[in-house]
Amino acid sequence: MMKQNIYDNEVFFENYKALREDPVNYNELLEQPEIKRMLPDLKGMRVIDIGCGMGDLAKYCVEQGAEHVTAIDPSSKMLQEARRRNSHPSIEYVQTALEDAVMTIDSYDIAVSSLVMHYVADYDAVIQSIHAALKEDGILLFSTEHPIVTARKEGDKWITDADGNRIHFAVDNYQEQGRRESKWYVDGVVYYHRSIAALCNGLIQNGFSLEEVTEPIPSEKAIAQLPRIEHELRRPSFIILKARKTARL
Ligand SMILES: C[S@@+](CC[C@H](N)C(=O)[O-])C[C@H]1O[C@@H](n2cnc3c(N)ncnc32)[C@H](O)[C@@H]1O
Repeated sequence: MMKQNIYDNEVFFENYKALREDPVNYNELLEQPEIKRMLPDLKGMRVIDIGCGMGDLAKYCVEQGAEHVTAIDPSSKMLQEARRRNSHPSIEYVQTALEDAVMTIDSYDIAVSSLVMHYVADYDAVIQSIHAALKEDGILLFSTEHPIVTARKEGDKWITDADGNRIHFAVDNYQEQGRRESKWYVDGVVYYHRSIAALCNGLIQNGFSLEEVTEPIPSEKAIAQLPRIEHELRRPSFIILKARKTARL
């Protein structure tokens, strides 16, 4: 299946970079604090950051004591920014999609991935290759767009009244797993919907045991900084799964 590399699209990239440069965003206020909380102790760990983007999380891992971080991403624009902002002797940036990554078996203590898994078409295949790359007892921790957000194929997700007030959120097509397309800065951004059961079972059936699942809730401080993030209390945008490699397949 053809993989999309939308982060190398000029318009998409510039908009995404501007979004992330404003510290008042969903990543910094909601998703990153939770994924950092869920990370195990990083001291002396060998880490792979899958879809590292501009490298902030890879750098954080090193600052927290990780021995080495392999940070992979298919986007040359994202990696260029990563190397500019977050170069470090213990971080190796590699340009590759997860599906094409050549990973040495039994070599990482931790695989972390922030908001990337919804871009992957074949979830089972990548979970299997991450499983092989992790050492025994290794941790896979990833966030992804919440299935109730990715489910609906067409139409507005928030249903509003005539004044634009959000009445409720529309979930539809939930059990229809697979490809979706939407406009986010540019038309035709491809992502993949998977139900909560599919996300969990993909791990369980491929040699992982689930350790924690969270749906990040904004703090009062975050709501004060970005009032519309309060809608996260009505429906979560993200889900984060933490699993341990328990079985040798
Ligand atoms: C929402 S950004 C998140 C970046 C970074 N993890 C962060 O949290 O700042 C998604 C990233 O996933 C990368 N990506 C998209 N498809 C991918 C794939 N198949 N394998 C690995 N990374 C991918 C994109 O290039 C982009 O850098």
